[in-house]
Amino acid sequence: MPPAPPASDRWIVLKFGGTSVSRRHRWDTIGRLAQRRAGENDARVLVVVSALSGVTNELTAIADGAADSDVRLLQLEQRHREFAVELGLDPEQVLGERLAALRALGVDPRAGGRDLAWQAELLAQGELLSSSLGAAYLRAAGLDFGWMDARQWLQASLLPNQSPWAQRLSVSCSTSPSEGWSAAFRQQPARMLLTQGFIARHEDGGTAVLGRGGSDTSAAYFGALLGARRVEIWTDVPGMFSANPREVPDARLLTRLDYYEAQEIATTGAKVLHPRSIKPCRDASVPMAILDTERPELPGTSIDGGAATVPGVKAISRRNGIVLVSMEGIGMWQQVGFLADVFARFKKHGLSVDLIGSAETNVTVSLDPSENLVNTDVLAALSADLSEICRVKVIVPCAAITLVGRGMRSLLHKLSDVWATFGRERVHMISQSSNDLNLTFVIDEADADGLLPVLHAALIDSGAMPVEETSVFGPRWREIAHGIRKRDTPWWQGERQRLLAMAAAGTPRYAYHLPTVRARARALKQLSSIDQHYYAIKANSHPAILKLLVQEDFGLECVSLGELQRVFEVIPELSPRRVLFTPSFAPRAEYEHAYGLGVTVTLDNIESLQRWPEVFRGRDLWLRVDLGRGDGHHEKVRTGGKESKFGLPVARVEAFVARARQLGTRVIGLHAHLGSGVETPQHWKQICDELGGIANRIGSVEIIDIGGGLPIPYTADDEPFDLDAWGAGLAEIKAAYPGYRIAIEPGRYLVAEAGALLLSVTQVVEKDGVHRVGLDGGMNALIRPALYDAWHDIVNLSRIDEAAEGVFDIVGPICESSDVFGKRRRLTVATTEADVVLVADAGAYGFTMANAYNLRALPKEEVLDV
Ligand code: LLP
Repeated sequence: MPPAPPASDRWIVLKFGGTSVSRRHRWDTIGRLAQRRAGENDARVLVVVSALSGVTNELTAIADGAADSDVRLLQLEQRHREFAVELGLDPEQVLGERLAALRALGVDPRAGGRDLAWQAELLAQGELLSSSLGAAYLRAAGLDFGWMDARQWLQASLLPNQSPWAQRLSVSCSTSPSEGWSAAFRQQPARMLLTQGFIARHEDGGTAVLGRGGSDTSAAYFGALLGARRVEIWTDVPGMFSANPREVPDARLLTRLDYYEAQEIATTGAKVLHPRSIKPCRDASVPMAILDTERPELPGTSIDGGAATVPGVKAISRRNGIVLVSMEGIGMWQQVGFLADVFARFKKHGLSVDLIGSAETNVTVSLDPSENLVNTDVLAALSADLSEICRVKVIVPCAAITLVGRGMRSLLHKLSDVWATFGRERVHMISQSSNDLNLTFVIDEADADGLLPVLHAALIDSGAMPVEETSVFGPRWREIAHGIRKRDTPWWQGERQRLLAMAAAGTPRYAYHLPTVRARARALKQLSSIDQHYYAIKANSHPAILKLLVQEDFGLECVSLGELQRVFEVIPELSPRRVLFTPSFAPRAEYEHAYGLGVTVTLDNIESLQRWPEVFRGRDLWLRVDLGRGDGHHEKVRTGGKESKFGLPVARVEAFVARARQLGTRVIGLHAHLGSGVETPQHWKQICDELGGIANRIGSVEIIDIGGGLPIPYTADDEPFDLDAWGAGLAEIKAAYPGYRIAIEPGRYLVAEAGALLLSVTQVVEKDGVHRVGLDGGMNALIRPALYDAWHDIVNLSRIDEAAEGVFDIVGPICESSDVFGKRRRLTVATTEADVVLVADAGAYGFTMANAYNLRALPKEEVLDV
């Protein structure tokens, strides 16, 4: 390797694409960025630009012989003249010669035969024009910018087996500088230089072009030839993401990748960087960065050889338009040369094979979408050819879903949710790359819709995508695009003294902050799309909370006789019409009792109607259906789908209604609750839509109950639920089914954040390097962490102002190894016996799930109002 040039002579290459060069203010940014880079340790700067946006497409149409080429050329000329004026330049002075050259190409005798050299020259005009405009503008602004013709410096190298077309219009360039190249390059007087992407010198001295994505590749070639400090690709997105942000708003910015991962991501999906551009930089060990011209303050994506090799899935992508060719080889298999015969036929038709799967009698390959594939005759011709040696089936259209990351093989055990997701689709083919960097599933294109957000979430939940690695994963797309909505400061921070006083009277103790419950209730009530509100009292049945919510005009949803009794004990005057009874596998007597009380009964199976006709005869009821899927923060709280015990399958609704009619039973409500802690607002919109359709078929339904399940932000990373978006989505559906009232029955949303669990430290112990803080209550007082791996923030309330620099596992006193509130949590190192620890967001499913295991007493409960 040649010695690195002195720092003062090290280059930074900046590349700007079409949208970055088409507006005046963008050129101001280019000037500013170039100057800033030139100030970094006396660097020199080379700026590589694309043509104005859309121009290359126009030139391609003309090169392809479009009938209205004259008009298009005139328009192109006009467009550049106008832009010169926008830049405050004299069009004739800056562009006169170039536009004359463009016009001359239009009437060039070679145009008739669409001569390849002529096409290349024509295509090159876009970059020549944009770079001339930019250089003139930057110089006029007083910057020390020189302009150079890239064809003087980039030399196309002809590869064997390349078609004449590719040798002219899709060339690669040499990255080893010829004798004197570097010295000559350095001689150029200006500190900053501007040149064209996409174009190079052909061996015959004429013009060649690099093909699509050529500007990125040009920048990379220059970076490699110059041994640059860095190649920066400035574009209109913040970098590479863990998924396409348009499809997956939770996709994470990938802040640092190694060349190989970046290559794989660029090849399998991300459009931000042309895959060809990585190798030249990789071979020359030149770091790359992808940065956002509009948001230069963001970190972007850095790609270099020293990137820490964090194992795990970094990105997931989807490619549409994949064609699968399945070949049954029958007797041919195992014959020497069979595959060679097969692939020769693909070659003959100019089709490039991407994935390959093979079995004893079958070889299946996928073809990348390419121009000649759009023409279906190619496939017919290929099939005809292949059928001489095997039976052929073409499967279209397919989508390839690819997981990219390091060490895919060692991740398989974490991918069970991913496999489960695919379990619902027909997977035609699974392929694992031999470099262990990708795993691809090919499915029908129609099945791929909506799959990416689900897969992305499953990868994070399972730990297969290690988003906590901040050296690799940056902010979410939606944070970047819309800013993140932070959780409110929790109420208990302002109530520390009162809470400590309560704790002094004995722990474990739950404290409920009624103003928080009230605020949540009112937020829900102000949404116009909901007509009736119920509170699922299983979340927290403290009398003060029941009274408060009834005052706020909520009805109450109960699931047992015990809960019904609680409700009428606490609020004897409550009208039974405001009470729902939605039990699961309850005994007959509970239904009889509920009807006796006059509350609304919900049923979710036919068997009960058949076995206990007397209970339901002549009565009204709500029917709970299972829409075939569940959702929620943990598999144990998903209440839909075959594995779940809840709900009548939609296919049996008709039979249920028929049976009910025989009994004179009226189905007046339709209900679905598919899970708890669901994060996507569309979940309820979809439920509402499906229930609306079913209600229309039943006829007697008056009300649609879309369940509870609204999430709360348990971690600092979680965003508060977007109630407005939720309500707006429901309003859309409601408009489609104006005849029904819409009901909800949340539990968690109303009470979780209002509750804190106070505990006292019993012991602080170190064992084998693990420090543990023990508390006087554990899974007996709050079972959610043990049961669902649920996260609750934990603070040392006694020492809340001390820096939390110690790392502890927080455990309870129960004789079970799952008695852990949280692992590797930060508390002050001074944490000691009798300190009061607060477990946050414990107002829902806290006390109501507490138990006396190990014969430990139930926690106390207390409320705080105003
Ligand atoms: N409606 C029905 C029919 C339900 O089964 C439930 C909760 C709700 C409404 C209220 O769901 P929420 O809005 O609270 O998500 N123990 C688990 C939650 C179990 C939820 C059971 N059913 C946890 O701590 O996460």
